[in-house]
Amino acid sequence: MKTVVYPGSFDPVTNGHLDIVQRAAAIFDELVVVVADNPNKKSFFSIKERKTFLEALTEDIQNVSVDSFDGLLVDYVAERNVDALVRGLRAVTDFEMEFQMALINTQLHRGVETVFLVTSTEYSFLSSSIIKEVASFGGDVSTLVPSIVDAGLKKKFAARVDK
Ligand code: PNS
Repeated sequence: MKTVVYPGSFDPVTNGHLDIVQRAAAIFDELVVVVADNPNKKSFFSIKERKTFLEALTEDIQNVSVDSFDGLLVDYVAERNVDALVRGLRAVTDFEMEFQMALINTQLHRGVETVFLVTSTEYSFLSSSIIKEVASFGGDVSTLVPSIVDAGLKKKFAARVDK
C-alpha cells in the first residue's frame, strides 16, 4: 500500500494541478493533497477556500483526500505513514527550486522521497500566479482552471473593484 502526499499552496488549484492529482492517483494507492497554510505567505484564497475547491474537485476520485498543514512539511509527513511526496515539474526553471526542496526535505526527514511527475504539455505554462494576474485584469481563464475556481476568482476580483 503506497500512500503519497501532494503538497502545495494551490492558491488557487489549476487544471495543471488537477492533471497531476489524476495521474498520481492512478499510480499510487492513496493520494493526500495537502494545502500549505503558510502565515509568512499572503494567500489570495483562504486555506478554507483552497481546501474546499480541492475537496469538491476530487470528490469522485476514490483514493484521493484533502488535508492542510502548517509548519514544516516534513513534520506533517513524520506524523503519518507517507511513502513519498509528489510534485509536478513544468520546466527547467522549476527544477532548481524543486531540487532544493526535495533535498532539504530528505535532510530534515531522512528517507522521505520526492517523486516528480512531468507536466502535460498543455499545462506547462500554467501557474496559480499567472492565473491570478490574468484574472485580476478581467482576462478569461475559464479554460485553465476548473469552473468553480473561475467563479471564485471572478467573485473575489469583483468584490475588490466594488470597494
Ligand atoms: O505550490 P507551492 O507554493 O510551490 O508549494 C510549496 C510548498 C508549500 C510545498 C513548500 O513551500 C512547503 O513545503 N512549505 C512548508 C514549509 C516547509 O516545509 N519548508 C521547507 C521545504 S521548502
